[in-house]
Amino acid sequence: MATSRSYKKLLYAWEGWHNAAGNPLRAKYQEFVTLSNEAYQMDGFEDTGSYWRSWYDSTTFEDDLEHLYNQLEPLYLNLHAFVRRKLYDRYGPKYINLKGPIPAHLLGNMWAQQWNNIYDLMVPYPDKPNLDVTSAMVNQGWNATHMFRVSEEFFTSLGLLEMPPEFWEKSMLEKPADGREVVCHASAWDFYNRKDFRSPHPAQAMLLSPRRIKQCTTVTMEQLFTVHHEMGHVQYYLQYKDQPVSFRGGANPGFHEAIGDVLSLSVSTPSHLQKIGLLSSAVEDEESNINYLLKMALEKIAFLPFGYLIDQWRWNVFSGRTPPSRYNYDWWYLR
Ligand SMILES: *[C@@H]1O[C@H](CO)[C@@H](O)[C@H](O)[C@H]1NC(C)=O
Ligand SMILES: [Zn+2]
Repeated sequence: MATSRSYKKLLYAWEGWHNAAGNPLRAKYQEFVTLSNEAYQMDGFEDTGSYWRSWYDSTTFEDDLEHLYNQLEPLYLNLHAFVRRKLYDRYGPKYINLKGPIPAHLLGNMWAQQWNNIYDLMVPYPDKPNLDVTSAMVNQGWNATHMFRVSEEFFTSLGLLEMPPEFWEKSMLEKPADGREVVCHASAWDFYNRKDFRSPHPAQAMLLSPRRIKQCTTVTMEQLFTVHHEMGHVQYYLQYKDQPVSFRGGANPGFHEAIGDVLSLSVSTPSHLQKIGLLSSAVEDEESNINYLLKMALEKIAFLPFGYLIDQWRWNVFSGRTPPSRYNYDWWYLR
């Protein structure tokens, strides 16, 4: 999805994945919704969505989000129109309607949730140094461990904590070479023993086997940011490790997600990329700045409506406003 620029190949992969993942999961998801609602209703909540919203300590949470989204929307619509025009230039009028939605499989990501992988098609000033430093990382022989070390160095350079030895010994930073199946979605987990913080580690697997932890790190710029994101979780765990156990948690889940992302915003600036040897020159002229801003917009501005729609969809599913027969319809309506 990230690198192909063939309309038909991308469509084939997109449809194949959705048919293979979506259809078999539908019945299981329906059951999950029922069981999860039953559990949270026993705790006195209306449904699972209402429990999730309670983490944010706001009685107007849904309105707050809508208000924030409305403020963002003009910028998002501008970005959307710009990307649609560039895709029109690439794929032509047969595939792109300049007044319609963008086909989801053309945005460089299976869920079209972030669009940074098509930065090469979008770059406003292509003659400026390439801000996607993936090829520089590959050429310099970067590996997974090095990416985590570079991330740790950035945290410690700000006076934050280094990772404990257990982190380095027991984390799974790469897809295992022995071919056993692991879930490759990156995550970070707190073992609540005040010294073992591995990155990344799936909750479910933790219950099955304390040694199965995971991020299938590959050497790309996108993954370098994911590394910072996961390290942000672990940094937060470390910072509250000496609290009584009931206080060993984030202010809310959104705050937890934000820690590493804040750092990677700084890591991705041209001047910092130059500092860590991934950009030969960090030109600070207007055209380079526009390139940089557009690159960040493809990653961050494109994501915000997506993240918002995920919660809206799930809230409606948990509350029953979206019944199973409308799962797919309501998803695409929001999309
Ligand atoms: C990863 O890169 C670091 C730093 O360049 C190097 O010291 C280390 O040996 C490399 N590890 C592997 C497994 O190649
Ligand atoms: Zn996270």
